[in-house]
Amino acid sequence: MTDPADRLTAAAEAAGEDEVERTLRPATLDEFIGQEGVRERMGIFLEAARQRDEALDHTLLAGPPGLGKTSLAAIVARELDVGFHITSGPVLERKGDLAAVLTALEPRDVLFIDEIHRLNRAVEEVLYPAMEDFKLDVMLGQGPAARTLRLDLPPFTLVGATTRTGLLTTPLLGRFGVVQRLEYYNREELAEIIQRSAGLMDVEVSPEGALAMAGRARGTPRIANRLLRRVRDVAQVSGARVIDDSVTQEALTLLRVDNLGLEDIDRQILERLIVTFEGLPVGLGTLADAIGEASDTIEDVYEPFLLQEGLIKRTPRGRVATPRAYRHLGHEPPSDDQANLF
Ligand SMILES: Nc1ncnc2c1ncn2[C@@H]1O[C@H](COP(=O)(O)OP(=O)(O)OP(=O)(O)O)[C@@H](O)[C@H]1O
Ligand SMILES: [Mg+2]
Repeated sequence: MTDPADRLTAAAEAAGEDEVERTLRPATLDEFIGQEGVRERMGIFLEAARQRDEALDHTLLAGPPGLGKTSLAAIVARELDVGFHITSGPVLERKGDLAAVLTALEPRDVLFIDEIHRLNRAVEEVLYPAMEDFKLDVMLGQGPAARTLRLDLPPFTLVGATTRTGLLTTPLLGRFGVVQRLEYYNREELAEIIQRSAGLMDVEVSPEGALAMAGRARGTPRIANRLLRRVRDVAQVSGARVIDDSVTQEALTLLRVDNLGLEDIDRQILERLIVTFEGLPVGLGTLADAIGEASDTIEDVYEPFLLQEGLIKRTPRGRVATPRAYRHLGHEPPSDDQANLF
């Protein structure tokens, strides 16, 4: 049986993720900080599946990038003590790619499909009978002589991850017995994650330092860990033994992370909306072109946090910056008369 950790290591290497991030991944449900509701429910479902010696129901994990979907999928496999297979929507180009993955499964194994909303339709259709009846239909031959062979698959658990549930087709969504949505983490949870990571990295962070970083991590563990690493660099160079509030502030200023956790690119998005487009509603594609980023990246990575912080608004005619965004960047918000035009 493949150790989930090894599988993840291979996948992370393929994704270009560095070694530090991998060592920081929580390995068990107990090590997974925050997301109380999700953790409690998953704990119960896992326990029940273990008791019945059955595969866990197919589970969909949804939420913005860096909140722990991949970590949680690996935890599921580890907690069930079964094999962990990892792939992603864009990688499964042809039906045969998925068939190869499915036929390699052992009973109760976890198959993790990242970015499952990006599966193409033909491949997705192979997944329906596989999820529902544990059957795989294979086409033999071509033309009039072609016939379908139905193969049995072992009962397995599909864990899908998606940044946007809205992009899943209804038949696919309906085949998940469990749907869990990960939410942005609060400041205390992020501080706890930072302290846990600091312990693993063998650096000392004061409670104030951890809270200061947490406050600028945009509710996202991956960003919290990234900040910690950069702050550690600054501490090391300046000879600070403990990462306290003042080292953290110095580092955050250097990194140009502001008091809301916004970085250059976030501020650039807001500046464009306010200055370049003069506060008029802007379509996603136009905004993406102006910033030089892909529309998907803006929609998946930057926008959710700006929306959640009430810095931008989606209107039928496009994105607009809110008065809060104007004030944050030191601009005068438009008067009510102007704002009513949108
Ligand atoms: N609940 C948590 N407790 C502790 N650390 C966490 C938690 N969630 C995430 N992390 C940390 O954040 C990093 C990113 O998490 P992960 O890769 O699982 O996110 P993801 O949701 O799969 O992101 P993406 O959508 O970009 O694939 C992990 O390496 C881990 O160190
Ligand atoms: Mg992931």
